[in-house]
Amino acid sequence: MALVIDPQIESQLQWVIEDIKANRPVALPTETVYGLAGRVFSEIALGNIFFLKARPTFDPLIAHVSDFEMALSVCERITEMEAELMKRFWPGPLTILCLKSKRVPDLCTASSEWVAVRSPAHPVFRRILSVVGEPLAAPSANRFQGISPTSYRHVLSELGPHGLGLVVDGGDCQHGVESTVVRVNDAEMKIEILRPGACPREEIETFVSSLGYTVVASESVLDAREQQHSPGRLAKHYSPSKPVLYVNREWTEGVFDFDLLKNDDCVLFVTAEDFEMAKRLGFKNQSAVNVLGHDSVEAAARLFKSLRDFDGDTNSKRLVAFASDFRGLGAAICDRLSRAGGSERS
Ligand code: TXA
Ligand code: MG
Repeated sequence: MALVIDPQIESQLQWVIEDIKANRPVALPTETVYGLAGRVFSEIALGNIFFLKARPTFDPLIAHVSDFEMALSVCERITEMEAELMKRFWPGPLTILCLKSKRVPDLCTASSEWVAVRSPAHPVFRRILSVVGEPLAAPSANRFQGISPTSYRHVLSELGPHGLGLVVDGGDCQHGVESTVVRVNDAEMKIEILRPGACPREEIETFVSSLGYTVVASESVLDAREQQHSPGRLAKHYSPSKPVLYVNREWTEGVFDFDLLKNDDCVLFVTAEDFEMAKRLGFKNQSAVNVLGHDSVEAAARLFKSLRDFDGDTNSKRLVAFASDFRGLGAAICDRLSRAGGSERS
């Protein structure tokens, strides 16, 4: 079983540094979700990350850096617009695809010429980065296609049985959904959102519009080959082991028949407003009802824990999730719910 590290205790933090230097992955808190960190420049460390997660090597890893200077060490070059985004949104939950430096092993990027780079805001992760002094690859600290962990306890249950050595307890993650992944398309003056996440589209839009850029968020941004190589975009992801039915817009238009819900369904509303609206539209309260939050910020922070709780609840056979707000963090929540909905396992 893994050891839980208290980041306030300096001697324990030293064990973390030692493990990372010895290429043994360590689970660390970030402001989005917990990550499984290892040295970008070590193929052994990267290999150990893939092994612990049971992650196929076609799924590339994000390089975490302390700042712009460290980002330069993983990039062939950083364009003007990429640098603008880094200046505005770092440290924080924005991951930017840049042209990769030859120093970055192909294992990190799944042989792509692009490397995903982000500078996390969590003080513990930043501390480790500054002591180690080099970039750290860190996918979410869950088994492949599982639910991302937002507390050290989730990490323990995901990776403890599979040989994880250390997990640092940095408290519950602030955002609760992963970073937004973007690519800059200078030719078309577009910022392409490859994964909606904790950095809301609207904030990116407000910033880049003053520089003449627009934001596009679409599956069509990636061609079929790239989609295959970007499993954050695969239909089946963030999956509980039981079925999830994700209901979006149609229910707000009165098209959904609430009488189809079964007694052993666990019903989830993303916001309190969704719950109120459902009652007006004919939803009759039942025992297992879960309202994630007052607004999408609060809802996002609780989303993955609630999917996990549902998974462990023997009374409910299916999760039926209702969402209606696609603005702000709502986009990331709906994205994760719809992918959790791809979870019917044969
Ligand atoms: O918030 C986050 O981003 C968290 C924390 C730990 O930082 N990390 C995270 O990593 O979510 P992961 O590996 O679970 O998801 C990374 C996503 C995947 O969808 C992956 O396909 C995509 O980023 N990605 C990484 N490198 C890429 C690349 N070179 N080209 C295209 N997509 C890439
Ligand atoms: Mg992940």
